[in-house]
Amino acid sequence: MATPVILDCDPGHDDAFNILLAAAHPAIDLLAITTVAGNQTVAKTTLNARRVCTAAGIEGVPIAAGRDRPLHGPVRVAASIHGESGLDGPGFADPTVPLDPRDALTLLHDTLLTHPEPVTLVPTGPLTNIAALLLAYPEVKERIARIVLMGGSTDRGNTTPAAEFNIHCDPEAADLVFTSGLPVTMIGLNASHQVLATPDVIARVEALGTPLARVCGEMLGFFSDRYREVFGLPGAPLHDPLTVAHLIDPELLGCVRAHVAVELHGRHTRGATVVDLHRVTGQEPNAEVATEVDVDRFWDLITGAVRSLGDRQS
Ligand code: BDR
Ligand code: CA
Repeated sequence: MATPVILDCDPGHDDAFNILLAAAHPAIDLLAITTVAGNQTVAKTTLNARRVCTAAGIEGVPIAAGRDRPLHGPVRVAASIHGESGLDGPGFADPTVPLDPRDALTLLHDTLLTHPEPVTLVPTGPLTNIAALLLAYPEVKERIARIVLMGGSTDRGNTTPAAEFNIHCDPEAADLVFTSGLPVTMIGLNASHQVLATPDVIARVEALGTPLARVCGEMLGFFSDRYREVFGLPGAPLHDPLTVAHLIDPELLGCVRAHVAVELHGRHTRGATVVDLHRVTGQEPNAEVATEVDVDRFWDLITGAVRSLGDRQS
């Protein structure tokens, strides 16, 4: 049976591919999409979610706008990686997919309480909406099957030397999620930097030949150019779709159980995930942490999603 899922995201190029993968694959029942400020302002990430769904012919999935700033401190965006629109590269048509009139917290609450089975939450942006949901509606906790998130790292940062972007944007929200007692899977940079959209990957997507494949090729091209310039990598890490890929194919990732603490106070390390891989703190593990990735299986899933959504439109 398909896994019921809500995506909470900040599209964002890699978030966009996660939407495509979740909508395309029969193992996933995509119930809703909620958006948050992250890669760009929430107005832009919400517009982008609607653009992506329109471009891919994804209809009937409610999309609601969430928090426009972190629980504490100023909002920050990632224009140097995702551009001024948050999804620079392709020329998107005006979206025809509507915006749900509810705010994200209400949509999350309603969906969790009305769905017959517990639902998996898949956050791929700052964890503001999820933390705010748990604070506002603690009764939804028992309706959450698990949280599979992209964020953090076992060994490096990308926004500061120590902190990954999603966690760095809202460390207090991340801390609340990791200490919630809910089953959490953390897919961080140590895993996502294994799936780089190199020119051969982009060529494989473009070769599918559909209008959607062209848009996807343009997204990957822009994203990879930015990573090449900013980080000197041979392609962009397609971070976020590792979450849904893991739900589709649990063998695709190797995970270890570990305690994850979010650094809230460090002068140089605020927003870092401190992952106790070697169990030196004596603290009980509170997360599954991804360490290994089957890279070929991942790209097969991504190209398969673009193929299947593109074919449905033709
Ligand atoms: C994360 O930050 C964002 O820029 C990406 O969409 C991803 O969720 C990687 O650090
Ligand atoms: Ca993201």
